[in-house]
Amino acid sequence: MKFHTSMKCKLYVLFYLLASCSISGQALAADAAAGNVQNARDKVSMCIGCHGIPGYKASFPELYHVPKIAGQNAKYLEAALNEYKKGSRSHPTMDAIAGSLSDQDIADLAAYYANLK
Ligand code: HEC
Repeated sequence: MKFHTSMKCKLYVLFYLLASCSISGQALAADAAAGNVQNARDKVSMCIGCHGIPGYKASFPELYHVPKIAGQNAKYLEAALNEYKKGSRSHPTMDAIAGSLSDQDIADLAAYYANLK
């Protein structure tokens, strides 16, 4: 009888630990993936020269075509930047820009431009 009670006790502790571990693991993963619009404000200075000052859609369209990125879906922007970074999509300046960005930078910038109308 005594044996059974302590086994149950250990199982509860085990489940509790497993549950709290997976919950905090998920929270950490969500933090890393979520873009922070506020943090992106320091980083967009790298982009506004070509992609337009905030509110404008594009600058210098007469020199070369720059896609409109304001208001695009964040996942789409993130995917595009990762493609430049990894080399599956190529453009001289965007390769260099995206290559210098961390995953967090990309998430922040994607969130920023997705919220920019
Ligand atoms: C020197 C000019 C220049 C700078 C600086 C620049 N871009 Fe670009 N960007 C371009 C051009 C040109 C393209 C289109 C390239 C192509 O055809 O693949 C582009 C494409 C993109 C795309 C893909 C859009 C789509 O619809 O496929 C994204 C996203 C993007 N840029 C984000 C950024 C971000 C974020 C920054 C700042 C960190 C930045 N760019 C800085 C010129 C620039």
